[in-house]
Amino acid sequence: MANVLRIAVVEPDDSNRENLKAVLLGLETVWLEAECSRYEFFVDVVEQTKPEISLIGMDADPAQATRLIGDVLAKCPDTTVLVSSRSTDGRLILESMRAGAKEFLTEPVKAEDLATAIQRIRRHTAGTKGSTERQGCNVIAVAGATGGVGASSIAVNLACALAADDQNSVVLADLDLALGDADVFLDTIPEYSLADVAQNVERLDLTLLKKSLTKHASGVHLLPRPMQLEDAQLITPDRLQRIFGLLKTSFTHIVVDLSKGYSPVDMAALRMADHILMVTQLDLPCLRNVVRLMVTFDDEPEIREKIRVVVNRVGQDSGQISLKKARETVGRDIYWQVPNDYRVMVEVRNNGVPLLEHAPKAGITLSIGQLADALCGKEPDSDDSSTKGRRWLNLWPAKS
Ligand SMILES: Nc1ncnc2c1ncn2[C@@H]1O[C@H](COP(=O)(O)OP(=O)(O)OP(=O)(O)O)[C@@H](O)[C@H]1O
Ligand SMILES: [Mg+2]
Repeated sequence: MANVLRIAVVEPDDSNRENLKAVLLGLETVWLEAECSRYEFFVDVVEQTKPEISLIGMDADPAQATRLIGDVLAKCPDTTVLVSSRSTDGRLILESMRAGAKEFLTEPVKAEDLATAIQRIRRHTAGTKGSTERQGCNVIAVAGATGGVGASSIAVNLACALAADDQNSVVLADLDLALGDADVFLDTIPEYSLADVAQNVERLDLTLLKKSLTKHASGVHLLPRPMQLEDAQLITPDRLQRIFGLLKTSFTHIVVDLSKGYSPVDMAALRMADHILMVTQLDLPCLRNVVRLMVTFDDEPEIREKIRVVVNRVGQDSGQISLKKARETVGRDIYWQVPNDYRVMVEVRNNGVPLLEHAPKAGITLSIGQLADALCGKEPDSDDSSTKGRRWLNLWPAKS
């Protein structure tokens, strides 16, 4: 779970600024929200972007930069000010600290120094904000063992189930770049897509990114697949990483509906994910594909370890392979079971409404809701009879 802090930088010296940018872009824990080359504009920049961290390069004019520290903090007391300078003059350090800077970095700024400073800021912020501190962001990738296995149904409804909790802010990213249908599931006509965001990634900031998302009544923010097929190529692994990096600064969950192509973009999402749900059904071709995929991921243990097998459409017909046999075939536990409910699924699909809205009490809805809870680490209260009654097949989670 990553908690990304947003940073705004002012550094009039071009080469210092480029160095800082290169260092910042290499750090996963920060997002470069804004860069500025003039001290006189920086207070406005900070006021508009409200970054958690403001970094001031001091050497162009140490006196003006020192005054700027106070000005920034006067307008935005919540930002933490860092300063950087080539100088090791004790007086400059002292003055900047007195003005309110929390960290003094020596130019040229090195990645490890900046990472350590950010770590300290994070600890300090967590300590002062206590339980009100924003929780990190969980990336949940939903993959499928074959086409039509129910991955999008689960991804969309999982996102809605997560968004039903006021504490959560959820983005649903449709990475099925050619044929994705998350927008259809939610009956929305998005104005912007992943292609627009990817195209503007260099100048992307939180405001622009949020404007590009389509907010659904369920609370889910949709980042849909490109409108045009040919625009799929605009989404590259690097760009996706940048987009997710920024989303992580402001959302608690990113649910990703992957394509079945296991393309470089899908693989990038799998690497960034905290949880990977591998959706399968109880038939041999599906289960064989799970085994094949697991073997493929042998080379990438960090992906393999995150995979949880989710069996969809349980109880569909009597010819289904048993869960016991499925477990033996795939060689790992079945993490979750989602029941078959053809009628409800056809209705929600045709009407473009989430399960929670259309059939809040259906077993399939409860199962996906409980899956959302389990992924959030919410344990069921065994004394809570209301919860007990809701549990589908008494699974929590399906330990097998
Ligand atoms: N638990 C379920 N019970 C009944 N029908 C289901 C269930 N889950 C999914 N379906 C149905 O299966 C079909 C395929 O579902 P979905 O589009 O979610 O699969 P997918 O894996 O995303 O497919 P694709 O490979 O095309 O992206 C849909 O018609 C959906 O309504
Ligand atoms: Mg799909």
